[in-house]
Amino acid sequence: LSDKILALIPAAGSGTRYSKIKNKLFEKIKKIPVIIRSLITVSSVSLINEIIICAAPEIISHIENLIFEYKIKKVKKIVSGGKTRQESVFNGLLYIKGIGGCDFVVVHDGARPLVTTEILQKAIITAKDKGSCVIGMPVKDTIKKINPKTGMIIETPERNLLWNIQTPQVFRFKELLDAHELLQKETFTDDSALLENLGHSIFTGMGSYKNIKITSEEDLKIAEIFLD
Ligand code: C5P
Repeated sequence: LSDKILALIPAAGSGTRYSKIKNKLFEKIKKIPVIIRSLITVSSVSLINEIIICAAPEIISHIENLIFEYKIKKVKKIVSGGKTRQESVFNGLLYIKGIGGCDFVVVHDGARPLVTTEILQKAIITAKDKGSCVIGMPVKDTIKKINPKTGMIIETPERNLLWNIQTPQVFRFKELLDAHELLQKETFTDDSALLENLGHSIFTGMGSYKNIKITSEEDLKIAEIFLD
């Protein structure tokens, strides 16, 4: 029997870092909204059976309209997001639990519209083989740890050990759900970190320097250039 693989798309960001009024997910890159670009690629992956989106309640109907307009397939449900990304993912996982769970969950940011079918496939195949796969790329800059109070450098980790972590991140559903349930009270900025905290061995795979997260205005321009 083949694995049941669901994609979970956190898309409940307030977008406050981007703009107070506009939501970056609805901004268009070469005529297609960011969230729709993400969904088109995720839905194109044959290994993914269904998609669950986490969105702020006030934008759910807008996303529903776009899904209809662009004829996006496989979207099973749009659940309400939470105050943090972690809470949004947890809400999505609880919904999946309610419908009987699945074997693997592919978490992919709604705000990463330039992900490719190949990256998603590679992440899923690696996770099926090794149990997990987190996509990222080696850093290009030297990274330093800074004391936020004094602005002084604490240390310089060896660059060739450092990666920028992206999504997709693929995990066994039960393991990720258990980690979210156990660590609800602590804060993590990606899903991998919860599992790492519990001592799981997490595998990585190379993504692409083009798989950027749309966070600020200039990211939209960069994305447009990457699509040329
Ligand atoms: O804001 P951040 O860079 O963490 O956003 C990464 C992804 O998580 C985005 O797709 C965003 O919509 C989503 N997110 C969410 N719920 C939040 C905050 C962010 O689903 N409360």
